[in-house]
Amino acid sequence: MKILKYPNEILKKEAKKVKDPQSEETQNLIKEMVQTMRSNNGLGLAAPQVGVSLKLCVIEEGGILYTLINPKITKTSKETSSAEEGCLSFPGKFIQIERSEKVTVLYLNEKGERCKIKTSGLLARALQHEIDHLNGILFINRAK
Ligand code: CO
Repeated sequence: MKILKYPNEILKKEAKKVKDPQSEETQNLIKEMVQTMRSNNGLGLAAPQVGVSLKLCVIEEGGILYTLINPKITKTSKETSSAEEGCLSFPGKFIQIERSEKVTVLYLNEKGERCKIKTSGLLARALQHEIDHLNGILFINRAK
């Protein structure tokens, strides 16, 4: 799939909820997004980045693939950390971004099962970055 680059308008829009995680359409989209993320050596990819304005993102961290459908951050730590981030929609751009150190996320996985992740570090950062995409928020909007 082709990755949309900033300032494409789709990247700035809040995405819609996925209605049927189990549909063939959703399942195909997930497969194609995983391939696209991997072939571009990305840590994560959100559906709006491939021109699909739906609340769906994929993250691969520490050898584990996470498919997050309609994810929601339910808790963030007051403690923050700052690290350099990149984004496939901003080739060659790296910015120092401050984010919560820990997050709790509720979502549906690729089987449509309700899941919860409570994590910190790189995965917590990737979750915040990708879920921001689903709300039309880009890392440049988080830069100080
Ligand atoms: Co991004």
